[in-house]
Amino acid sequence: MKVAILGAAGGIGQALALLLKIQLPAGSELSLYDIAPVTPGVAVDLSHISTAVTIYGFSGEDGTPALKDAEVILISAGIARNRGMDRADLLNVNGSIVRNLIEQIVQTAPRALIGIITNPVNTTVAIAADVLKKHAVYDKNRLFGVTTLDVIRANTFVAELKGKHPNEMMDVPVIGGHSGTTILPLLSQVKDVSFSQEEIVSLTKRIQNAGTEVVEAKRGVGSSTLSMGQAASRFSLSLVRALQGESNIVEYAYVEGEGEYARFFSQPLLLGKNGIEKRLPIGPLSVFEQQTLNGMLESLKKDIAQGEDFAKWK
Ligand code: NAD
Ligand code: LMR
Repeated sequence: MKVAILGAAGGIGQALALLLKIQLPAGSELSLYDIAPVTPGVAVDLSHISTAVTIYGFSGEDGTPALKDAEVILISAGIARNRGMDRADLLNVNGSIVRNLIEQIVQTAPRALIGIITNPVNTTVAIAADVLKKHAVYDKNRLFGVTTLDVIRANTFVAELKGKHPNEMMDVPVIGGHSGTTILPLLSQVKDVSFSQEEIVSLTKRIQNAGTEVVEAKRGVGSSTLSMGQAASRFSLSLVRALQGESNIVEYAYVEGEGEYARFFSQPLLLGKNGIEKRLPIGPLSVFEQQTLNGMLESLKKDIAQGEDFAKWK
């Protein structure tokens, strides 16, 4: 199994690389790429950890050596939010970075499963899809916006509030997109726990604003990196296990579906050897969740349309 991380010298990239070096199956290869010259050094550093995962590091303008034979590619290259910024403020810089990296993937590893971490995810995934489409290599079962962090946060916050051990929690479903009100936790589907209306409103808000909670706590030097590293490693390892033939692997991610709500939408997915095996239903919603879903779709569709325009014109 060969996994590549693009943006590997950054806060998320290094945390993710460490977790994958420790957790990928024996015999795997992990390839790190970043424009930052330190990247080969990050690879040397990680190579001293005694696991049977071989590590390579590449830097400079050309990412293609890192992409050769890659089966799973995670993209966290780009700038992160600081205080006072929305994820959408990252679009001009990050949209170009994602577009450029996808062009390199088209040349070198067009059949890889691709996970986009770079924000604004609601929009960068649409850019990636349309660049792949332009080159006639788009397969909507192989492109994912990574929204696992929203699920991890929802699990943590619910466990905290209800005095449960986080490991006993079944995943709290989080659907929609990855920005503000487009993040919709489905608290009504959490088993063996009940919430007052007040708790539902305040938990929903906390999960939607959790990225900003980290941005503010870091006081102007970036956004979540360590929790995101863990979220991305969980998601990558699920892709790897599915590629290796393990069954019943379900993760939430932001993907192109049937367009019932929006062209791209985060929902539960059954993963398999070809990426998405099946898009699973989001299940029954409470009145509050249905209203919140109805209220966010316009904003989500606008984010997607921006990505479609970006891929076309820039
Ligand atoms: P960071 O600044 O620490 O790292 C980004 C890295 O990207 C840097 O090392 C930089 O050199 C590299 N880079 C920039 N342009 C590149 C290019 N063209 N090719 C290769 N590498 C390039 O940022 P970070 O904290 O790791 O965050 C990265 C991105 O992930 C941000 O856009 C952030 O908003 C996003 N993010 C997403 C989620 C999510 O849930 N999906 C969570 C947290 C952060
Ligand atoms: C997050 O949710 O932590 C990330 O999307 C980073 C951010 O800008 O909030």
